[in-house]
This record gives sequence, structure tokens and C-alpha cells, in this order.
Amino acid sequence: MALGIIGGTSLVGTKLLEVAKKREVNTPYGTVYLLIATVQSDEIVYIPRHGKDSNIPPHRINYKANIRSFKELGVEEIIGVTSVGSLKRTIPPQSLVVPHDYISLCGIPTFYENEIVHVTPELDEVLRKRVIGAARSLGIAIVERGVYFQTVGPRLETRAEINLIKDYANVVGMNMASEATLATELGLRYANISTVDNYAHGIIAEEALDYKDIVEAASKSRENVEKVLLKVIEEMA
Ligand code: HPA
Repeated sequence: MALGIIGGTSLVGTKLLEVAKKREVNTPYGTVYLLIATVQSDEIVYIPRHGKDSNIPPHRINYKANIRSFKELGVEEIIGVTSVGSLKRTIPPQSLVVPHDYISLCGIPTFYENEIVHVTPELDEVLRKRVIGAARSLGIAIVERGVYFQTVGPRLETRAEINLIKDYANVVGMNMASEATLATELGLRYANISTVDNYAHGIIAEEALDYKDIVEAASKSRENVEKVLLKVIEEMA
């Protein structure tokens, strides 16, 4: 069975799929650039969330096309890797978090534009456990539960916004909830690894966050995320 991976800032430049076929897959929602590779005899379909040239900003990502392309290729389980800010002093930058739930109160995408369908969103517990198990067996520290709060990018949050949400969630980011919701709508299993790349605005320091620092921090988690993904793949075989 094929595994789908969507990588963001933390996997830019990943060597995970060095020997991969580049493909463009047409969907009713648009064309998706992706990579297909055989890793340890399993087929892996990798979508770089920010596009071939890493230049699609969060508010322009075509989530529907991305998730639909997995369906077209017969992928049934997806691991999304996302960059997040920490809402807790106890979850410092460089932590890896596998959220068990999420909050996303606006900008919710749907495939059901013209019929009345209400799915109940969920992160896949079995896939989540496989990710956690892979990290554990490698001795890589991983936060096994957490609520992901999705905000609407591209701007970061104000201190007041972070103050409002910090008691209800552990990490804040711009992508995961949209992907998980759309995957649920198509009956695909979705789990997430979030790389903590900064403390959210005002959690520790009052000053503004610098996006360049966030990208640099994300690249530091790449190696551990790659190791965990490879282990998940190895254990599929
Ligand atoms: N807020 C929202 N998205 C993010 C952050 C943040 O602090 N860090 C990385 N992605």
C-alpha cells in the first residue's frame, strides 16, 4: 500500500526521495506537482506543500488538489509534516509533536460544495501510533499528544490572539487542519508530525518573530523527521 507524505518548511530540500519520479497529477481542483519513489519496496508519494519551487504561501496552497491527487493515486494514508509555533513553555523549539486533535474555526475547506455532508474530523489513531512507535524505537523524543490550533496565514499571530488560544491548544500552525479535514472527507487516514520551530508570539519573548529564524529552525528538525518517516516506511514492509 502506498504512503502519502506532505512536507512543508521542515522538509524543504529533503533527501528522503532523492531517487524519485517527478509527476504532475491533474485533479478537478488543479494540477499537483509530486514525487513518487519506491523506498524499502513501498511506494511513497510525496507532495511538497509549498510547490516545486517552495514558493506557494500558506493561503494559496491548493489543499483540495493535493489531497485529491493522493486519492487519484490510490494512496490511503497520509503523514503531513508541518512547522508550528509552541503555545507552551514546556514544549521548546526543536520538539516534535504528534497531535491527537485540532481546532480550526475558520477557512474550513470542503469537497462538499453542493451536497449536504457533515464529516466528523479525526486524526488517525493507528497511523499516529505508528509514527510515535517509530520515533520511540529510534530514541527520538516525541510529544505524543497535543492540540494543533490552525490560524489563517500568511501573517503570524498577535500576542492577544496567542493569549486567547494558549490554554486550549499546544501548538499553532497554518496547514494541518485543512489537510486532515479534506482527508477525512475522502475517507483517507491522516496523521501529523509538527516540528516546533519557535515559541508563538509572546509566549516567552514580547518581540516580533522573524520568519527567517523560523525557517532556519525548521531545517534543524529535518534530520529527525526524515529518520522517523523512514522508520515508519520500513515498518510497513
Ligand atoms: N504561528 C503560526 N504558524 C507557524 C508558527 C507560528 O508561530 N511557526 C511556524 N509556523
